[in-house]
Amino acid sequence: MKPLAALQTVAADNGIESSVTDVMAQVAQLFASGFGDIEAMLDRAAVDAPTPVDDVLAYMQDAGGKRIRPALCLLSARAVSSEAPLPVALATVCELLHSASLLHDDVIDEGDMRRGVPAARKVWTNALSILSGDYALMKCLEIMADFPKAYLQLLVSTLRELVEGEIVQLGLRNSMQATEADYFAIVNGKTSSLFHFSALVGAMSAGAHAETCQALGTFGRHLGTAFQLIDDVLDFDSQPQNLGKDLLADISQGKMTLPVILAAERAPEMQALLTQLTMTADVVDVAQQISQTVRRSGALSDVRARAAAISQQAVEALGVLPAERAPLVRLMTQMADALLTRRR
Ligand code: IPE
Ligand code: IPE
Ligand code: MG
Ligand code: MG
Repeated sequence: MKPLAALQTVAADNGIESSVTDVMAQVAQLFASGFGDIEAMLDRAAVDAPTPVDDVLAYMQDAGGKRIRPALCLLSARAVSSEAPLPVALATVCELLHSASLLHDDVIDEGDMRRGVPAARKVWTNALSILSGDYALMKCLEIMADFPKAYLQLLVSTLRELVEGEIVQLGLRNSMQATEADYFAIVNGKTSSLFHFSALVGAMSAGAHAETCQALGTFGRHLGTAFQLIDDVLDFDSQPQNLGKDLLADISQGKMTLPVILAAERAPEMQALLTQLTMTADVVDVAQQISQTVRRSGALSDVRARAAAISQQAVEALGVLPAERAPLVRLMTQMADALLTRRR
């Protein structure tokens, strides 16, 4: 199923009015052929891969991700110029890089569900999930080889940030000592980097001046940070059928996300629970208790408020765009707002 159709099904199945679906429908309408071309390129990348990686990549694509990063890339290009050709290949790289990071992430995090279906590593194996991620990364490099060197350099620095973010996160796993500064460094690396890349290459491709490129990159970076904060709230505050992933995955993996860090500052019982988590064989039970403590502490609404403030900073960065780009700025603002209230 194509991503938009999948999102609409999820929204309808759960009787929820999904603002992300609405915004993505507007984006898809605006870029009708561009979006189709990205899907065709993604399909092509899957079909061309050696068996059984072709099946893994097709499975990931058909499971229906939100396609936020390619949308961001196209929006950013259009925010610069209504005439420049849509950066379809670059937007495809954004999604392929994201797919690669998910295929690897589910192995690292032992994730069982992804996009509402069993993670690729459960359908096949960890080894094949890793190799399929490697293949998707190789494909990104292959596509990028046709672009000026600055694009490849940007891809490399983005990958560096992403991988280093994951390394820091892994190093802090189960230590239960992570601070807010650690958390934001991890998020900036593992998530904001790719949002930054997506918006920045979109702007570059449309011939934006350095200042505009920087502003759109900043939009993407803040948007990515807000996005991850909400992801970490949803880990405690969602329904698996909406989210398409298992709940309490972060805390069960010994990851100190912002909801836990803030809850620990105000709920004295949290420290003992965190210690217990690292010692117990019954992680599920302790994770549930931590979840209740997080919810009772009010930390979730605080993290949502923090995400809203960061998202506001993202939108402010769009202030450099000239008045005639207002319709695009409006759509990008709607996207930022929708991502704050997303359920998937
Ligand atoms: C999941 O990203 C990984 C995070 C950065 C939290 P998305 O929520 O954009 O994943 P899909 O592509 O829609 O499945
Ligand atoms: C998202 O991290 C960042 C990457 C996938 C690189 P998460 O571990 O929070 O993502 P989910 O929750 O598994 O989608
Ligand atoms: Mg994960
Ligand atoms: Mg997560």
